[in-house]
Amino acid sequence: SGLLFKSSPEVRFFFFFVSQSADYEPFLPVSEKSNPLTRDMDRASPDSIVRMLQACDTQMFRKETGATHQVKVANRVHIILKDPQDSLVVLSGCGTSGRLAFFITVKSGFNRALRQLNRSEIYAYIIAGGDKYGLVFYSEAPEDDPKLGTLSLKQACEGKRRVLFIGISCGLSAPFVAGQLDFCLQNPEVYTPVLVGFNPTHQARDEPIPGCSFTFRSVAERMRALAKRRGAFLLNPVVGPEAVSGSSRMKGGSATKILLEVVLSAAHAATFSSSPITDEYPARLNLCRRVRFSLQRGRRVRYLGWGSLGLLGLVDASECKPTFGAGERRRFRRRNNPSTSRPQGPAFRVSHEDFLDLVLPGLTDEDAVLLVYTRVVKLARRVREKTSNLHAVYHQTDKDTDEIDKLCSSTLTFTWTLETPGMICFLSQQWELATKLVLNAVSTGAHVLKGKIYQNYMIDLQVSNSKLYRRATRLLQKLSGLPEPRSEEALLKTIYQMDELTADVTSGDVKTHIRVARNHKKVVPLALVCLLTGCSIKEAESRLEQKPIVREAVEECLSKPASPLEACNPLKATTLRDIVGILIASTFL
Ligand code: F6P
Repeated sequence: SGLLFKSSPEVRFFFFFVSQSADYEPFLPVSEKSNPLTRDMDRASPDSIVRMLQACDTQMFRKETGATHQVKVANRVHIILKDPQDSLVVLSGCGTSGRLAFFITVKSGFNRALRQLNRSEIYAYIIAGGDKYGLVFYSEAPEDDPKLGTLSLKQACEGKRRVLFIGISCGLSAPFVAGQLDFCLQNPEVYTPVLVGFNPTHQARDEPIPGCSFTFRSVAERMRALAKRRGAFLLNPVVGPEAVSGSSRMKGGSATKILLEVVLSAAHAATFSSSPITDEYPARLNLCRRVRFSLQRGRRVRYLGWGSLGLLGLVDASECKPTFGAGERRRFRRRNNPSTSRPQGPAFRVSHEDFLDLVLPGLTDEDAVLLVYTRVVKLARRVREKTSNLHAVYHQTDKDTDEIDKLCSSTLTFTWTLETPGMICFLSQQWELATKLVLNAVSTGAHVLKGKIYQNYMIDLQVSNSKLYRRATRLLQKLSGLPEPRSEEALLKTIYQMDELTADVTSGDVKTHIRVARNHKKVVPLALVCLLTGCSIKEAESRLEQKPIVREAVEECLSKPASPLEACNPLKATTLRDIVGILIASTFL
């Protein structure tokens, strides 16, 4: 089986390395850098934002580097597929990385494919915080807990004699995943660890993890050393900085999906199909390049979908709260089995029935509804009675599109060409990726236009785990030009709402600071205003109240007048990019 992957000239694993320019932010890992392509995104027109996001995503698809560890990992999966007895492939991660572990395992159909072939299911997933909190809520705290990671891995693998563990951390940073990888390294008779992320190992996070003798970097370096003997594997191509600095839900998430689906698809093809794995991979990635974006600005966007595309709406919206501090996070999906028990609480009311009960009555023309699957004609008709701000993203082979076209004020259509016969197998994965990119762009663009971003930094981030605490401090340092200790001091002052810090606060640990920070809003913007103007926290609060758009408040302090957004005329649309303008103008302005 090893030979199968190595010798076939047809096997092509594509991944792309973006050359790292050593000249800017050299102290930051690629995943935390600000992308030069989007530096002025906060002042750009909708059309330019689309271009920037597109250019940024294109970095994922640059230059073939040939087969690396993907081949070896696919080989390991192939071996387990041939002899699945007491074996497991476990995917695990935090936030979007955990949601994608769930998505790839459950929704992309790898277990389902096995069931259809009467084979044992071999895939399992772990999401930090568990399904309930990890999938729907924004729960960043479990990311900091390596022991929780280890425990959940042990539980998932109880009784197994062979486990291929795939730990996903886009920034090579999550202690939850580091704990799991370390546990695998200590138990090599059962576990083989694979690390998926998008930084070189020397850029992995090196901050001490409380209660542990390792850091993420030390684990990654140990894995790199072991890789030569095939005791561990690294899948860490560099795909360039995110469009919004550090927002790994975007490229990091997309690259995770592509990379793992390619690896698992290859393993399945090698096991169950006599035909060699061929050019469908490059073809798939070529198709991905055709993806275009839609952006919205405004009040509220509702995603209405079905199946895996509906789930992607859920994944996208779940990240908006931690990333942008956005309000409600409910997406609506068709419930396949209404009798299935589900967690209670308003955030979990995401079925189409819930949409009809809870949202439709209050829907106005100011709300936007985005159909992410078109087989929802009946529902679309009812939405149309309430608002003309109905839009659709659909894939050419969908039925019922005529009526959807008439109902919607704009539609974004993907036309997929089956360039090779084998392509059909991967069509749904391509739809999913295209949909993910659109939804990411819609939600990111909307928040950029709402003034949540300064240059390409998320200034109103939630300080809800240690990574975000460090990112917040760094951002304050960068924007104020003051040294790190002064920046951290200002952050602590706003977290604890005090103009002079007490000894209790300064001697407290980051975990405590995060617990307190969770209860406060606009912590980072307030700290920045204090730093730039020297004013008290109360004064900074009143400044921000007068200028609720954080970017404008920051710009005022930095004495950079904001430039008005370019107008876009929805009547002159000729290209997909113009459709983005229509979406923005017709929906929200
Ligand atoms: O801490 C929040 C967050 O940055 C999420 O936005 C992200 O999905 C998650 O952490 C996981 O990050 P990583 O994949 O780098 O471990």
